[in-house]
Amino acid sequence: MPLNSPWRADFPGILALEAEGQTYLDSAATAQKPQAVLDALLDYYAGGAANVHRAQHLPGERATRAFEATRGKVAHWLNAAEASQVIFTRGATEAFNLLAYGLEAEFQAGDEIVVSAAEHHANLLPWQQLARRRGLELVVLPLDDRGLIDLEQAATLIGPRTRLLALSQLSNVLGVWQPLRELIALGQAQGALCVVDGAQGVVHGRHDLQALDCDFYVCSSHKLYGPDGVGLLYGRADALRRVRHWQFGGEMVQLADYQSAEFRAAPLGFEAGTPPIAGVIALGAALDYLAELDGAAVTGHEAALHAKLLAGLAARDGIQLLGAPRVALASFVVDGVHNADLAQLLTEQGIAVRAGHHCAMPLMQRLGLSGAVRVSLGLYNDGADLERFFAALDASLELLR
Ligand SMILES: Cc1ncc(COP(=O)(O)O)c(C=O)c1O
Repeated sequence: MPLNSPWRADFPGILALEAEGQTYLDSAATAQKPQAVLDALLDYYAGGAANVHRAQHLPGERATRAFEATRGKVAHWLNAAEASQVIFTRGATEAFNLLAYGLEAEFQAGDEIVVSAAEHHANLLPWQQLARRRGLELVVLPLDDRGLIDLEQAATLIGPRTRLLALSQLSNVLGVWQPLRELIALGQAQGALCVVDGAQGVVHGRHDLQALDCDFYVCSSHKLYGPDGVGLLYGRADALRRVRHWQFGGEMVQLADYQSAEFRAAPLGFEAGTPPIAGVIALGAALDYLAELDGAAVTGHEAALHAKLLAGLAARDGIQLLGAPRVALASFVVDGVHNADLAQLLTEQGIAVRAGHHCAMPLMQRLGLSGAVRVSLGLYNDGADLERFFAALDASLELLR
């Protein structure tokens, strides 16, 4: 089956890389952008840039309208109850740091924060550092062989001292959907806050945050076919009221004198300074683009490509898959071959995959690995990309073994 992507031509970056002899299989790190996103960036600057929420003049009013329209589109995309529950940050990483500082007053020495063994550093280190500042315990939920959080063990580890769960929806290494609803229910039974790292999950399918009922959900625009420099933090209204302001400056303030200030509520109270205006507006264009696609066709295409990827890896000797990935990516190691050597040879053949610890060093340590090679897919990839990857993989392994 050729597995052509009907959307490939919408992505100039993919076509440019292809013309250069590059096969892009690293969308879990960052996705290519559709033309509509490039147009939105250019339109904003070429049409007259202006700051948001400050000026009454026409360009300022136009920029503010487009900026706020994206907030509404994000809320709609994630089924948030209100647009005001969506905060724009400068990346997913910044959103986790915002929470780890903004929720600091919620914790007392001896309280516990629960993470899983599969967290990306972005959803681990802010909590680890908070734990060090406040004398808290960081509890790590173990995974089973597939990479799923073990629910039985989670039920014993999430207890009365648990104040917060910080869990990824879809691991960037293992590609498994965690049983979040069950885990959130375990946390809620203890009165704990639940933070979900949706950086990888948000890109695949649609997610209903009201049904998920987490307190916070974090993701970034650049993996969602939008520009980089923009992160999204969703908070349920009652949860957001518990977050203290953490960055101080323009626009987040209600009243200020030399000695004191009063701050705005969410979202603007958490968007100090000039936000990434062009990026936010262009993220709106990415969501418009995605909303117009046939979601079932995208999911079907991604599933067919993923099945081809897994089948190709399984057909080759000595390849060990990490976990049991369900969507869009596969990480693997090869017996007797260092992942960096393999990645180097793949790079020399124009295959853009990621190798190393994938910003999840503790997970790699737990798996007893120094790193792994990861292939990840976007909706623009097609069967020919995977065929080029497998041809390069075979040629590389021939040399390395
Ligand atoms: C699971 C996961 N969480 C968080 C992040 C951090 O996102 P960003 O680098 O956009 O801040 C990433 C990025 O790779 C990720 O894969």
